[in-house]
Amino acid sequence: MGHILIQDLCKSYRNRRIARRGPRDPYQPGEIMWILDNINLEFHEGEMVCLLGPSGCGKSTLLRLIAGFDGATSGEVTIDGKKVIGPSSNHIFVFQHSGLLPWMTVWQNVELGVRNVEDARARREKIQENIDMVDLTDFEQHYPHQLSGGMKRRAELARALAANPDVLIMDEPFNGLDFLSHMKIREEIVNMHELLRKTTLVVTHDIDDALLMGDRIVVMGGRPAQVKLNRQLDFPHPRDPKKNAALGDLRDELFLMLGVSYAV
Ligand SMILES: Nc1ncnc2c1ncn2[C@@H]1O[C@H](COP(=O)(O)OP(=O)(O)OP(=O)(O)O)[C@@H](O)[C@H]1O
Ligand SMILES: [Mg+2]
Repeated sequence: MGHILIQDLCKSYRNRRIARRGPRDPYQPGEIMWILDNINLEFHEGEMVCLLGPSGCGKSTLLRLIAGFDGATSGEVTIDGKKVIGPSSNHIFVFQHSGLLPWMTVWQNVELGVRNVEDARARREKIQENIDMVDLTDFEQHYPHQLSGGMKRRAELARALAANPDVLIMDEPFNGLDFLSHMKIREEIVNMHELLRKTTLVVTHDIDDALLMGDRIVVMGGRPAQVKLNRQLDFPHPRDPKKNAALGDLRDELFLMLGVSYAV
């Protein structure tokens, strides 16, 4: 489960313009703005896919189309052979930061992920299992405001995993985290992925995140955005671009591709 096929996907929005109504300046409808141009991609079951690209190029738009939150202008996304026509909470879970409900405890927030499990005992076990997995044991009755930034992110992760989706979508999951929490949560995501093998799509701005986590790296760019690179990574974990020459070369290639010079 969790095989994603994206075929000839195009997306446009109507540009928003300030409309000044009046006899000399009638309302002008906005022009069409093309965001995604003919995207063709295939993500295999259980793959960890890291999406890179400059800000505003359309990464979140692509994720929204895969999650069914928005419709394509043309082309289609199919998951396990079924065309995506709207959101489906059973199959896809979108991991959002600041997605915890502030009036609910960690336990209750994670419980939201397992509300489909009918048996109360099985539900309790599943909640505890996921809370333990992200190392939040003993913080079950804490409210989000009583947790650190890294702990909140781990609780969000527990909720996402408890939902047991076929596809896990993470748009910039490390946003706003300090350096150490970023490293720790990245490691936890990689470990969980090794264990659970869910198809996982991660948007990140950090090339090293993509190199260390991805089974596949996709770079998007241009206006409208096209796929600039789609590379499968067969390097085993743990990965270190400093010790692995091929990984180091790919790192250089990605920096060049994204127009950044890191040798300053
Ligand atoms: N609902 C919308 N209506 C109109 N334009 C939109 C809409 N959503 C996104 N856009 C435009 O689509 C483009 C791509 O946006 P998107 O959020 O997908 O970029 P992104 O690659 O995720 O950027 P970032 O890395 O900054 O998050 C932007 O130019 C944005 O203004
Ligand atoms: Mg985005």
